[in-house]
Amino acid sequence: MGKSGLEVSEIGLGCWQLGNDFGPVDDARAEAVLKAAEQQQINFWDTADVYGGGLSETRIGDFCSASMTQPIIATKVGRDGALFPNGYSKDKVKANIQGSLQRLNVEALDLIQLHCVPTEVLKDGDMLAWMEDFQQQGLIKHFGVSVETMDEALFAVTHPKLTSIQTIFNVFRQDHITELFPLALQHQVGIIVRLPLASGVLSGKMTKQQQFAETDHRNYNKDGAFFSVGETFSGIPFEQAIDLAEVLKTQLPQGMSLAQMALRWLLDQPAVSTVITGASRVEQVQENAAVSALPALSSELHEWLANFYASQVKQHIRGVM
Ligand SMILES: NC(=O)c1ccc[n+]([C@@H]2O[C@H](COP(=O)([O-])OP(=O)(O)OC[C@H]3O[C@@H](n4cnc5c(N)ncnc54)[C@H](OP(=O)(O)O)[C@@H]3O)[C@@H](O)[C@H]2O)c1
Repeated sequence: MGKSGLEVSEIGLGCWQLGNDFGPVDDARAEAVLKAAEQQQINFWDTADVYGGGLSETRIGDFCSASMTQPIIATKVGRDGALFPNGYSKDKVKANIQGSLQRLNVEALDLIQLHCVPTEVLKDGDMLAWMEDFQQQGLIKHFGVSVETMDEALFAVTHPKLTSIQTIFNVFRQDHITELFPLALQHQVGIIVRLPLASGVLSGKMTKQQQFAETDHRNYNKDGAFFSVGETFSGIPFEQAIDLAEVLKTQLPQGMSLAQMALRWLLDQPAVSTVITGASRVEQVQENAAVSALPALSSELHEWLANFYASQVKQHIRGVM
């Protein structure tokens, strides 16, 4: 990943689901998902201190202690109610990091990411300077940012000590290819892709009649009522996203599911270090891990997908990109 020396699997695991924010996932299923990731040699797991109020981190920490497995765990800081949006101080951030250390049951965090902190907080640079201090103190090994906008990504990419940028990138969100990705390669900053399946709609399994659990952000945040609209279905109105996924189904290479085509497209991008596909079921982990062994998409299909994005998708994206 970038200049960090971390060797990460190109398919990673997104663990927001293990905080029950995509509907309830009980302990046994959470453990089975982590076990499946371990078995599939997915060695990069993404979580955050706030997922399920710490539940996602606790489940990961318990699993790793019991199974003696040692994936690279990326967590995040910055969206806890005591910090976000304007309560940031070095002591409070340090206390939150110590909470993550406890829940994950490790002495130093592999990778901590500033978790979509407000643009002005990111740009004033204090938090990034604190991360350098925490690195010196041995609390963290590496630090990166998880961003909501291109402006934030372009600001962060030149930071000399930055390991990674986590960003929303998928077949429905392609703008990174032209400006950010060449810079990421130039500055050796890893790219961590989130929402690779646009919250699941790019699996092609959903219908317009789909009902989501009350506690699922795809229910309560589908139009951005609670946090950035881009974090749910990549900012595309749900019914529109369903129609667009149906169009994509006309282009499936033989033997690939829509989820696999969408993930393979991501792995074909040289700047991408890892794709943290969120999974709420074992079968999803297996299907997603299998994408590493699939052939690259043809150049014709890449071109078709670029045109599809420009002519049919981009106009529907809501929120600041
Ligand atoms: N601000 C941030 O930093 C931020 C924000 C969002 C996410 N993230 C991270 O990024 C990760 C990935 O993003 P995401 O989970 O929001 O979106 P995603 O990976 O695009 O979608 C995940 C959902 O897709 C469905 N899915 C996954 N694999 C599938 C398959 N093979 N077949 C059918 N359906 C499949 C599942 O839906 P069902 O559960 O309905 O089956 C799963 O919950 C998160 O887990 C989290 O770690 C970070």
